[in-house]
Amino acid sequence: MGHALIFDSGVGGLSVVAEIRKRLPSLRMTYVADDVFRPYGEKTEAQLKARLPRLLWELTEAINPDLIVMACNTASTTALAEIRAALDIPVIGVVPAIKPAALASKTKTIAVLGTPGTVRRQYVDGLIQDFAAECHVILKGSVNLVDIAEKKLSGQPVDLDWVKTEIAPMFAGRRGADIDAVVLACTHFPLLRDELKASVTQSVQWIDSGSAIAKRVEDVLKNIPHLKTPPLGPDVALLVGPQTSDARRQTFANFGFERVVGLMG
Ligand code: DGL
Repeated sequence: MGHALIFDSGVGGLSVVAEIRKRLPSLRMTYVADDVFRPYGEKTEAQLKARLPRLLWELTEAINPDLIVMACNTASTTALAEIRAALDIPVIGVVPAIKPAALASKTKTIAVLGTPGTVRRQYVDGLIQDFAAECHVILKGSVNLVDIAEKKLSGQPVDLDWVKTEIAPMFAGRRGADIDAVVLACTHFPLLRDELKASVTQSVQWIDSGSAIAKRVEDVLKNIPHLKTPPLGPDVALLVGPQTSDARRQTFANFGFERVVGLMG
């Protein structure tokens, strides 16, 4: 069976959870949202490196999972090495799907839509050099889309104009009209896939890492000789920070986390 700890700054990791549940329906999951420290995309590398290894170590001690999925591109492209060094269980990072986007693009013009932090990281430069050297790559950072996804999953209406305003410059800039693949380089963004699609007129593939991560979780679990005994009872979501709304609790329930527990941040 196995037990995975899924971690993000907020609800974004639920886009990864959905893919994992499709592939591994009997995997137990505990979800942690670091609400109090969101948005990660506006934090410095030093801030994330100071917080995450320690926090993940403490969560691992408390939850005792078989593995961790860092369901956050910003954290993974910034602090994965430090988090792995602090833990003695496998940590699966989620990084931008630049390779599949470069392969899928016919125009060889792709965009990477992530948080401001992710699109600035050296890690992403490395992925572009390694897998998209023949492409023109347009980088776009957005904090507002994270907030819009949080609002949507808290039951608030999303105004399509907010989404259009965020992504229009990407398509209006140099070679923007040639973009035929966009990497959803933040786990919050697949949660806005319908709104993103409705916001552009040109034909674009929206590519995220979710299904590849689910496959990776399956492979890593197969290589763990003795899986731990997962906790009894329903899957739990732990939200670090202020009291959450009933609508947001319901969202977690819809993704299979029947118990939602608030932790003081
Ligand atoms: N969901 C996160 C990511 O994939 C970060 C959102 C944020 O807190 O800025 O990058």
